[in-house]
Amino acid sequence: MVIQSKEDGFNDAVQFLKRGGVVAAPTETVYGLAADACDSNAVSRIYAAKGRPQNNPLIIHVDGIDMAKKYAHFSPTAKKLARHFWAGPLTLVLPKVAGGDVACVAENVTAGLDTIAVRHPKGVMSALVSAVGSPLAAPSANPSGKVSATNARHIQADFGDGVDLILDGGQCDIGLESTIVKVDGDEVTLLRHGAITKEKIEAVMKVAVGERSPSGCDAGVDIIESPGQMRAHYAPDLPVRLNADKPEKNEAWLCLGRQEASYPNSLNLSAVGDLDEAAKNLFDMLRRLDKSGSQSGMDAIAVQSVPMEGVGVAINDRLNRAAHATGISKE
Ligand code: TXA
Ligand code: MG
Repeated sequence: MVIQSKEDGFNDAVQFLKRGGVVAAPTETVYGLAADACDSNAVSRIYAAKGRPQNNPLIIHVDGIDMAKKYAHFSPTAKKLARHFWAGPLTLVLPKVAGGDVACVAENVTAGLDTIAVRHPKGVMSALVSAVGSPLAAPSANPSGKVSATNARHIQADFGDGVDLILDGGQCDIGLESTIVKVDGDEVTLLRHGAITKEKIEAVMKVAVGERSPSGCDAGVDIIESPGQMRAHYAPDLPVRLNADKPEKNEAWLCLGRQEASYPNSLNLSAVGDLDEAAKNLFDMLRRLDKSGSQSGMDAIAVQSVPMEGVGVAINDRLNRAAHATGISKE
C-alpha cells in the first residue's frame, strides 16, 4: 500500500477519487477513508474495507456551506451552527434535500435515512473535496468497531491493500471524532460528544442542547437516531478497566497527570493533565498499549479516571465504549 505525504500525494489522491478509488486522508479530528459520495461502487468499497454494516450511514465532507446546501436543508439554527463552527469538528445531521443534486449522493451513503450528515473539515480533506468537485463520504479510517486512526501508520497496520493511497499528514490535531448534532428546525440534539462541547454550542446558540442517551444503543442494536453509536465501539483487543487507581500485576497502565510510581507497559495521556493533549494521544496510546501489552502477556489495560470537563466528556465516552466492548465495566 502506498503512503505519500499529503503534499506529494495530493494529485494522485484526486485521480484515485475521481476514478472510484478509496483514499485515507487526515482531518483535524481523525483520519477518514474517503470516496466520491456520488459513486455508489466507490462507497461500497468503503463499507467492504471497514467491514461496516450497510445500515450505518456515512458523513459527507464538503468544502463549505454552499456545497452542503445542495444536499441538506439548513434551518436558521443549522446555518448559525455552520457559520460559527465550520470549518471544524462539528457534523450536522439535517433533513436530506429530495431530488436535485441529492440524486448524485449515492443511496448507500445515507443508508435509507431521510437525513444526511454533513461536515466541513479543516485542511487537506476539504481541499480534496474542492479538487474532486463533489462531496466525499468518509468514515473514520478503522475497521468497524475498532480504535480510530490518528496517524498514517495506524491505517497501514489495519488495512492491507483495501485502500488505494494513504495521505500522510502526521498526527491529527484533535484526536477524537467530530461532535455530531441533529438539527430539526430550532431543536438541537447532541448525538456524539467531541471537542466542540455541549456547553460551547449552548453558549453560541443560546438554547439548551438536548442529548440522546446512549442507553438505547446496546452492543449490536442499531438505533435510527445515530446508527453507529453502539455502546460497544473503539475496542482494543485487550479488555479495558476504567477508573483504576493503579494497575494490577498483569495490566498495562494508561494514566493522566503527574505519577508517583512508574510501571512497565505504561503511557501517560498528558503528564501535565491537559485534556486536549490527552484527547490527541488517546487512540494512539490505546493502540500502543494493546500491542505491547498483548506481546508481553498482559491481561488488560487499566485506565486512570479522566475528569468529566471540557473534552474530558468525549474522552470518557470513548473509554466507556472501549470498556463495554471488551467486557469490563467501571470499578
Ligand atoms: O471526525 C469525524 O467525524 C470523522 C472524520 C473522518 O470526519 N468521521 C467519522 O465518521 O467519525 P464515522 O462514520 O466513523 O462516524 C459517523 C457517525 C456514525 O456513528 C454514523 O452512524 C453517524 O455518524 N451518522 C451518519 N449519518 C447519520 C444520520 N443521517 N443520522 C444519524 N447519524 C448519522
Ligand atoms: Mg468511526
